[in-house]
Amino acid sequence: MDRPLQVGVIGCGEIASKRHIPAYAECAPRAQVVAVADVRRDRAEQCARVFGIPRSYGSYADMLADADLDAVSVCVPNCHHADAAIAAMRAGCHVLCEKPPATSVAEAERMAVTARVTGTFLRFGFQYRHSAEAQTLKRFIDGGELGDIYAARAHALRRRGIPGWIAFAEQAGQGGGPLIDIGVHVLDTALYLMGYPEPSVVLGATHLRIGNRDGVGLWGEWDWQTYAVEDMAVGVVRFVNGASLMLETSFAANIEPTETTQVSLMGNHGGADLFPLRIYQERHGTLLDTTPVSQQPGSADPYVAQASQFVDMCRTGSADDSALATPREGLVIQRVVEGLYRSAQTDCAVAMAPTSEEETLNAQGGAGPGEEMAAGVPSPRLAGVA
Ligand SMILES: NC(=O)c1ccc[n+]([C@@H]2O[C@H](COP(=O)([O-])OP(=O)(O)OC[C@H]3O[C@@H](n4cnc5c(N)ncnc54)[C@H](O)[C@@H]3O)[C@@H](O)[C@H]2O)c1
Repeated sequence: MDRPLQVGVIGCGEIASKRHIPAYAECAPRAQVVAVADVRRDRAEQCARVFGIPRSYGSYADMLADADLDAVSVCVPNCHHADAAIAAMRAGCHVLCEKPPATSVAEAERMAVTARVTGTFLRFGFQYRHSAEAQTLKRFIDGGELGDIYAARAHALRRRGIPGWIAFAEQAGQGGGPLIDIGVHVLDTALYLMGYPEPSVVLGATHLRIGNRDGVGLWGEWDWQTYAVEDMAVGVVRFVNGASLMLETSFAANIEPTETTQVSLMGNHGGADLFPLRIYQERHGTLLDTTPVSQQPGSADPYVAQASQFVDMCRTGSADDSALATPREGLVIQRVVEGLYRSAQTDCAVAMAPTSEEETLNAQGGAGPGEEMAAGVPSPRLAGVA
């Protein structure tokens, strides 16, 4: 590819203007953001003005029809991820879609199938896995230093961190509370480091005890009278390979730190905490803690690392060297999240169906390029587990 990758951005809010567009600027001359779209046209125009982007649109359909784009970042609220990403892929664009993949398994499956039939790359914005800590630990894991990772703990907890400026309380727009908003980050990071094992059973509980009453807000004031999603979620995931993962996530909980994020892994040769990175082993009759002095170079800003890999992937047509979250991984995350919510609602453990784009495609009768995808597709199987 001679010219810079021609990138469009759908949604001109916080994540687009603070992360995606600046990250693509770091990728010049390999990439250039040439168009932006937002339902709030004034916001798109202002974004284009601030970043010197040639074209702005009041709808992504107009942008996809008019601008000659190679790739698109999807930076709209969760409930619009699937429609925007699918429209972009059908317009022949590769897609980097913000997390979470979608608000339901059915949407994530439609996205995965569309990527398959259109032959476009679909990747998800889980930037924690691109952090220096995660990339450094990945090298140790790949080198066998932890052995077989059989257990993990992950948490993303805030004491009073309900983001007051966004309609997080609206279930329809977000698909849930902290689990689908910040829990997915540590879930993805843990699964990435574990090699994305196939989940078999999930058991979850959600709580709403603080968000629906007036109180102190460290992330701005929120509308407690309309707050409708969980303020805390906990879960256990078991995997087909025998491994297990425990997850805790909150916007509000009565804990000591105002914010704490951690991914911990336990293997038969070693364990590790990620933030900050420490590795725990038994060597030569000694229990050893290892703290790195330097870490994997080139990953100082995980958003830039993510954008750079996406740009390279689109330019070369090869996903070989990429650490970006794939459609299958997005589906695994979405199935675990939906399973945990379902488990919390039903008071039952939820057994998971295998995650396979191939199966989804077959289940839909092997849809071909350009064919309309069925909206309803198989969801995780429900089962009480003794
Ligand atoms: N990776 C991260 O750590 C991270 C951090 C923040 C947000 N996010 C994700 O980014 C996404 C956007 O979050 P945000 O904080 O930027 O929200 P935001 O509200 O600041 O921005 C969203 C923008 O999308 C526009 N929009 C809404 N519907 C649209 C549509 N149909 N077509 C075009 N534009 C539309 C809105 O007008 C708004 O300008 C969410 O999915 C969120 O989960 C990820």
